[in-house]
Amino acid sequence: MIIGLGADHAGYHLKNIVRSYLQQQGITVRDFGTHTDAPCDYPDFALMVANAVAQGECDLGILICGTGVGMSISANKVKGIRAAHAQDPVTARLSRQHNDANVLCMGGRIIGAELAMEIVSAFLNASFTDEERHARRVHKVQMLEKRYTEGETEREPAG
Ligand code: RB5
Repeated sequence: MIIGLGADHAGYHLKNIVRSYLQQQGITVRDFGTHTDAPCDYPDFALMVANAVAQGECDLGILICGTGVGMSISANKVKGIRAAHAQDPVTARLSRQHNDANVLCMGGRIIGAELAMEIVSAFLNASFTDEERHARRVHKVQMLEKRYTEGETEREPAG
C-alpha cells in the first residue's frame, strides 16, 4: 500500500509524526511536502496528493492543515476524490466503510499525535462495504461529480 501524504505549515509537524508512524508499520509513504514550517498554501499540497490518488499512483491520501477543513475542501475539487475530514476514529472508519473515502484530512492544530495515529489506523484498516445502499449512494455522489464537472445530466435513479 502506498500512502500519499501532504500538509501545509500548520500540519507540517503532525505530518512528520504520521509519516514515521506509517513507515514503522512498513507502509510506503510518498511525502509531497511541505518540508518546512514556512508559511505555504494548503491547496497546493491538496492538489498534489489528490492527483496522485486519483491517478492511482497512491492508494490513499492523508492531508493535514491547521483544521483539516481547507485540505478537505481543496481535495474534493479533484475528480475521483472523496476526502473525509475526520477528527475521530469512528468517523475515519465509517468514511471508508460507507463513503469509500480515499483521502483523510485532519487538523494539526486541533488534534494531538496520539489521536491522529488512532484516526489514521482506523482509516487504513477499514474498507468499503459492499452493501448495496452504500454503493448506490456513492454512485449518486459520482453522478453529481460527473454532472458538475462534465455538464452531464444523467437522471438520478428513482427511489
Ligand atoms: C493556515 O493558517 C490555516 O488557515 C490552514 O492550515 C487551514 O487550517 C485552513 O483550512
